[in-house]
Amino acid sequence: MIVEEALSRATRRLAEAGVETARLDARLLLASIDGMSASAVLLDPGRVLAADVESAFDRLVDRRARREPVSRILGRREFWSLDFAISLATLDPRPDSETLVEAALTQFEPEPRRRVLDLGTGTGCLLLSVLSERPKWVGLGIDIAEEAVAVARANARTLELSERAHFQTGDWDKGLVGTFDLILSNPPYIPSSEIAGLSPEVASFDPLRALDGGADGLDAYRALAPALLRLLAPQGRAVIELGKGQVAEIAGIMEAAGLRALERRQDLAGVERCLVLGHPVP
Ligand SMILES: C[S@@+](CC[C@H](N)C(=O)[O-])C[C@H]1O[C@@H](n2cnc3c(N)ncnc32)[C@H](O)[C@@H]1O
Repeated sequence: MIVEEALSRATRRLAEAGVETARLDARLLLASIDGMSASAVLLDPGRVLAADVESAFDRLVDRRARREPVSRILGRREFWSLDFAISLATLDPRPDSETLVEAALTQFEPEPRRRVLDLGTGTGCLLLSVLSERPKWVGLGIDIAEEAVAVARANARTLELSERAHFQTGDWDKGLVGTFDLILSNPPYIPSSEIAGLSPEVASFDPLRALDGGADGLDAYRALAPALLRLLAPQGRAVIELGKGQVAEIAGIMEAAGLRALERRQDLAGVERCLVLGHPVP
């Protein structure tokens, strides 16, 4: 079979399975196979596929037809133009979360050294993206999932940031001492009853503990509010992610705990995705 036939057949199969980006996904999967490449797939439609490439492609298309995301099949996701390994224990990082990185970078001058904390670090994508832009800053990432912490550490090594980025397993702020200039957090915020109705790519493949925010989606924010107050340096900033329509309630939870909501930021779809918090002016 030639490239074009294989792509057309896979595209039909994925479209029938409800995959919206069927042609693109078929191309990405074919290009990922050993011996293939993006240019072979795009520029050489008449190329004859070896039998082992054809059967490897069939296996990948089977997985995608069961709605496993391409990023999970490949085990990688690009975030902030960096390459992150992902695993079953980590959230698949979302482009929306880049809003937090943008907001974080505008809070301080690049120098001097700042201490950064990332609560619920997953792949480490938020912390590592910020540190990649700020060579003097150092950081700590915390996650309750030990396997996620191992993935974050591996990502720090690959990105050559392990000297400045450390990771440990923990339950939010338990056991943490000292203060931090910048605290990042993208906590789970989906109301429990809504998870089953999400797309299969999310509901069946992202870890539940990365999604489930309890009955109203806000449990983690209630836990985080006193933690942020305690751990934030006097002039520090917390930059947290929000679900759609949650900004007013979350700002209320944070202000009731004694923090001040300083700034809201929208993601590229116009959703208020990020809240910047600080201590009240004395
Ligand atoms: C929405 S994911 C965010 C992951 C990553 N920061 C990102 O933006 O892609 C939330 C993360 O919080 C972690 N988490 C959930 N409950 C936690 C807790 N009590 N303490 C620490 N981390 C927790 C989950 O394991 C998950 O990795």
